Formats: sequence, C-alpha cells, structure tokens
Amino acid sequence: MKALTWIGRGRVAIERVSDPQILNRQDMIIRVRLSSVCGSDLHQLSGYIPAMRPGDVIGHEFMGEVVDTGTEVKKHKPGDRVVVCSVIACGRCWFCEQGLFSACDNSNANPAITEALWGQHAAGIFGYSHAMGGFRGSHAEFVRVPYADVTAFPVPDELDDRTAVFASDAAPTGWMGADLGGVKPGDVVAVWGAGAVGQLAARAAVLLGADRVIIIDRYNYRLDLAHRETGAEIINYETTDVVDELLERSGGRGPDVCIEAVGLEAHASGSQYRLEEAKQQIRVWGTDRAPALRQAILACRKGGAVFTLGMFVRQADKFPLGALMNKGLTLRGAQQHGERYIPMLLERMARGELKTSHLATHTLPLDDGAKGYDLFKNRKDNCVRVVFQP
Ligand SMILES: NC(=O)c1ccc[n+]([C@@H]2O[C@H](COP(=O)([O-])OP(=O)(O)OC[C@H]3O[C@@H](n4cnc5c(N)ncnc54)[C@H](O)[C@@H]3O)[C@@H](O)[C@H]2O)c1
Ligand SMILES: [Zn+2]
Ligand SMILES: [Zn+2]
Repeated sequence: MKALTWIGRGRVAIERVSDPQILNRQDMIIRVRLSSVCGSDLHQLSGYIPAMRPGDVIGHEFMGEVVDTGTEVKKHKPGDRVVVCSVIACGRCWFCEQGLFSACDNSNANPAITEALWGQHAAGIFGYSHAMGGFRGSHAEFVRVPYADVTAFPVPDELDDRTAVFASDAAPTGWMGADLGGVKPGDVVAVWGAGAVGQLAARAAVLLGADRVIIIDRYNYRLDLAHRETGAEIINYETTDVVDELLERSGGRGPDVCIEAVGLEAHASGSQYRLEEAKQQIRVWGTDRAPALRQAILACRKGGAVFTLGMFVRQADKFPLGALMNKGLTLRGAQQHGERYIPMLLERMARGELKTSHLATHTLPLDDGAKGYDLFKNRKDNCVRVVFQP
C-alpha cells in the first residue's frame, strides 16, 4: 500500500509499504477515508520526538471504513464507518479502568524508551515513534487498529467525514484540557495556541459554561477563526502584553483555568527564547521550549489551574516553580484520554454544538503529503489543518 513516511528531519515521502495484517484477535483493519495532520506531527518532523526511524509511517488522527476484523472484535464489522482514537488503549488494565487511557499499561510494545525518559511508560500512539510503540500511522491507505472495540467508535450517519475525523484527537484533547483543568460555569479561561487543539479547548470551555474564554496566538487568521467559531475573545501576543491583558479581563485576578495548547516548539521573542531555540536545535539535553507554559503559570490566578495539552518530551529552562508554589497553582497535563470522551463528542457534533469541519482548511490527496506538511508547518494559505484522502 501507499503511505507517507518520515525520512529524516523535516522530510516526508510517499513510499510503498506492506499491507497491514491482523496480528491479534482484537485487531481490525481500516481503509482510511481521512487522516489529519496535527501539531504533534510537526514535532516529529522537526526531529524532537525520540526513537523515530526513517521509513516510519506517520499520522495519528483518522477515520475510515472497517475492512477486516479479528475473531474477538464484537462492536465493529466490515463496511462500518468508524473514527479511531489516536491513543491506543487495552480497556482492561488498572489505568484504563480509571479512565486514564493514555496511561494504558498494555498498548505500548516498547515500554523501555519512555520508562527511561519519564520513569514509567506511556501508552501506544499510532504513527508516533518507537517510543510510543512503533505503530504504523494513518497517513496510509490502510491501518491496523489494535484493541478495536476500545479504540474505535462508530460514526453517526449524520456526521460527514471532515467533522468526524476531529473526534480522533483534536476534539477529545481540547475537551480533556477544559474538563481536567476543572472549568466550571462562570470561570474565566485562557487558552494559549489557536491551532485546532486550542480552538477546540476554547469551544469546550464555552460549552462547559465558562463566562469568558480568551485565546492567544500571533496568527490573526487563526484568532479570527477562533473568535467566529467558538465565541472566544482573542489576544495577539505580538501586539499585546498577555499577562497584563488577562489580569484586566479577569477583574484583576487572572484566569481561573489556563490551558496551554502550544507545546515544545512554542514561539516567543527575546534573548531567553533565542537561547532555548539554539539549545533545542543543537539537541542539548533538556531543552523543550516552554514560553507559553511559563506565561500561563505567571498569568493564572492564585489557586487556579494550568493544564498543558501541548506536547513536551524532556525538560524546560526557567520553569517558574516559585510562582507555581507561592500562588498555590495546580499544574496538570496528559496525552489525551480520548476513549473517555469520543462517544459524547460525536453526540455533540451530531447535535451541532461542536463544529469541527471548518478547521480542515485544506483537503489533499495523500500523494501531496509533502505539500500538505509545508502548508501546515509554515502556516501558508491560512492553514489550520490539512486532511489527506488516501
Ligand atoms: N495532549 C495530547 O494528547 C495532544 C493531542 C494533540 C496535540 N497535542 C499537542 O498540542 C499542541 C497544539 O497542537 P495543534 O495541532 O493545535 O498545533 P498547531 O501547530 O496547529 O498550533 C499551535 C499554535 O500555537 C501557537 N503558538 C506558538 N507559540 C505561542 C505562544 N508563545 N503563545 C501562544 N500561542 C503560541 C502557534 O502560532 C500555533 O497557532 C502541540 O504541541 C501538539 O503536539 C497534544
Ligand atoms: Zn494529534
Ligand atoms: Zn489499558
């Protein structure tokens, strides 16, 4: 089959790889209908995710049609249209039973790499390096889906593919930030990053009853889209002092919940940022760039919560531990626990409460994979997300 592979820092290529096979009774094979790019793929493209190998098939946000099922798959049959959670979970281990699906103990076949990095291993993720299990990704014609009854969900007939594909990753990730960040009715919520994840976190905060939701970025086309589609207010961090402005807009207290949806390639200005960027580029150990997370901690109200959805891998410089401790903040983060949210999100999409298809600004054939990543990475042509049709 045809697939889009990572062939080295900054480069992808269409290659022919073997068709996936059912390896386990709980597996199924999907013919991909749509596969979306994600900010997490950019971190892979840049070479900041460990244990990538040339020839790895990338892509983890996808939906498609079931073509074959293992003998223990009960919920799906050939011909069904399904959306698949980007994070693979067994549904049976202690962590899955707590709803902590991205902490699944069984879905990562290479636990040693993340055990060495983080003390304990992470779950498997489609197309997300050998550290996350070495699973083939979704920028391909077919994908093997392990633990199919847990990881895949039927798409309601009334949803089109471009809406449903966001239930794979960006929508549950955004929802998780607002939910586990503890957004309550009446809250002021600030979201850093107006990519699809940040925009869907902002929308989740609105739907959870936040009084004011403010989204921060430097790309006006993304901010304008977020304002129009989510009901959020906006701040361009290049023209406005973010911490001052957030204090002003929250009655002098600071936002109750701050959601970081930017990750380890965050942008900023000034000498500290240039130093971090240089250290990261020459691969000095421990140099994730975290200016948005630092700003969120400084802006957050005393006793408030900061949730990072943005992807971090190693350590970050100048982490404001003093602010965290003295202001009594709660800091959390997670890979998305999508299995816990996807059915509810599909229902909200079907009711029209949660719009997503507008974020798929570009639809391209998989053969144009390199062009798609150029549009997305370099924010060309008002790109928010590219979806590939194999
Ligand atoms: N936790 C999870 O399970 C999960 C799932 C999906 C994506 N992610 C991560 O979420 C992050 C966002 O993903 P995306 O697809 O929306 O990415 P994206 O690249 O489309 O968007 C990131 C946005 O952050 C903005 N940004 C950069 N520096 C900033 C700063 N200092 N302040 C405010 N905004 C800034 C960029 O301009 C960009 O618009 C990535 O790190 C990605 O890896 C995590
Ligand atoms: Zn993703
Ligand atoms: Zn599990």
